Amino acid sequence: MGASVADELSASQESYISVCQLSLYNYMNPISVDNVVTTYRFYAPLYDRLFGAAFEPGRRALTQAVRNLRPSSLLEVGVGTGLTLSQYPSTSRIVGIDISTHMLDIARERASKLPNHDIKLAAMNAESMDFPDGSFDCIAMPYVLSVTPNPEKLVAEIRRVCRKGGTILILNHFSGSRFWWFLERAVRSLADKIGFRSDFCFDEQILKYDWEIESVKKVNVFGLSKLVVIRNT
Ligand SMILES: C[S@@+](CC[C@H](N)C(=O)[O-])C[C@H]1O[C@@H](n2cnc3c(N)ncnc32)[C@H](O)[C@@H]1O
Repeated sequence: MGASVADELSASQESYISVCQLSLYNYMNPISVDNVVTTYRFYAPLYDRLFGAAFEPGRRALTQAVRNLRPSSLLEVGVGTGLTLSQYPSTSRIVGIDISTHMLDIARERASKLPNHDIKLAAMNAESMDFPDGSFDCIAMPYVLSVTPNPEKLVAEIRRVCRKGGTILILNHFSGSRFWWFLERAVRSLADKIGFRSDFCFDEQILKYDWEIESVKKVNVFGLSKLVVIRNT
């Protein structure tokens, strides 16, 4: 099933990959760890008001998928201010990591109000995690892939720490929406300043890996983001 979803998507969009690569390599300012830390230090006190409600439908779709899976162990990469934490099953052992201690401080406050959940939060760069191979049944990554300095390194790490046959849930904005075309291009050179890449191709970032895509669902206003469910092969 996974292969056919990927095949269908890639058949219609294959020629688009080279365009994606052009935009990635020619127009994107590289994002550094320092950029992420500085930007999210600025965003932390405002984050929930700026990006809370606007991106909540996607988070709800992701947490619903986790509840359906009922994993015994769950890692949320880039947990931010912890907006998803209350929606995860209380039966799961939950670990949340983030590179921004300012975002994590808010997540810690949230977690402290969830006494029935088993939640551990830690400051860590997800591109080089301290966890042994195959540590988690499920990895959730809401709105992080287009933020991290090196998406390929992050993908390699999440595949390493997720057990074989486990589930990886990626929620992210991907470019290509006609409605946002102008805005995506207008701000793409500012990725290091605004804290995310606006011009982020699904083909280039998701379809190129030899993992099994189980489903892809459009979420958020105008289907601006996608929830991708992947089996870790
Ligand atoms: C757009 S926010 C998303 C926060 C949260 N997941 C949500 O749903 O609102 C991106 C988060 O990813 C974190 N982040 C980016 N790159 C990271 C990395 N390599 N390792 C750990 N956290 C990272 C940022 O610090 C920030 O808190």
